[in-house]
Amino acid sequence: MTKPRIGIIISTTREGRLGERVARWVAELAADRQDIETEIVDLRDFPLPFFEAAASPAYVPIETPEARKWAGKIAELDGYIFVTAEYNHAISGVLKNAVDFLYAEPNRKPAAFVGYGAVGGARAVEQLRMIAIELDIVPLKKAVHINMEPMLGLLREGKDFADYPYLAPTVVTMLEELSWYAHTLRAGRQAGARDAA
Ligand SMILES: Cc1cc2nc3c(=O)[nH]c(=O)nc-3n(C[C@H](O)[C@H](O)[C@H](O)COP(=O)(O)O)c2cc1C
Repeated sequence: MTKPRIGIIISTTREGRLGERVARWVAELAADRQDIETEIVDLRDFPLPFFEAAASPAYVPIETPEARKWAGKIAELDGYIFVTAEYNHAISGVLKNAVDFLYAEPNRKPAAFVGYGAVGGARAVEQLRMIAIELDIVPLKKAVHINMEPMLGLLREGKDFADYPYLAPTVVTMLEELSWYAHTLRAGRQAGARDAA
C-alpha cells in the first residue's frame, strides 16, 4: 500500500517570508518517517485571483484554471500541514482566499498546524481549525507553535531551528498523530464508509 501523502502548505507569499523556512524544517523532520510522504505546497505556485465566483464551490464547479490546479493538488493529497503566520490576529489573506476555492477536495482528511508569531500563531491556528470543520477536514489538536523568542531569533539574529531544540519534538509528536489520522481516514474513505451527508 502506498504511503499517505501529506501536503505542507506554505501560507504566506510575501518577499522575505519566514513561512518557507518553517515549512522546509518541518519537511526535513518528516523525511525521517517511513509511514508518510510529504511535499511542500507553496501558495506562490498557485497564484489565484480573488474569489469572485457566483456561488460557493459547494454548488458551482470552479472554472478558473489556476484554481482548478490548486483544488486538484489538494484533492490528490491525503492530509495537510498548514504552516501559518498570523496577520492582524488572523490567517493570511492569501491563504483564506485559496481555501475559499475548495469544497470537496479536502473532505474527511486530517490537518495539522504549525503556527509562528508573537503567540506562536495561536490565533491563526484556532481560526484554521474552525475553517477546517466547514471544509469537512479533521483538525488535529497536536500542533507546533513557534513563539516570539525563536521567531525573532530566526528572523533577526541569524539563528536556526537547532538553536531551539525544544521545538523539534513538538513536530515529531504532531507528525505521529497526523500519520495515524491520515492512515485511518484514508482506510475509511477507501471503504466508502458512508455517503457524503
Ligand atoms: C501584515 C502583517 C500583520 C501581522 N500581524 C501579526 C499579528 O497579528 N500577530 C503576530 O504574532 N505577528 C504579526 N505579524 C508579524 C509576523 O508574525 C511576522 O512578520 C512573520 O514573519 C510573518 O510570516 P511570514 O514571514 O511567513 O510572512 C504581522 C506581519 C504582517 C506582515
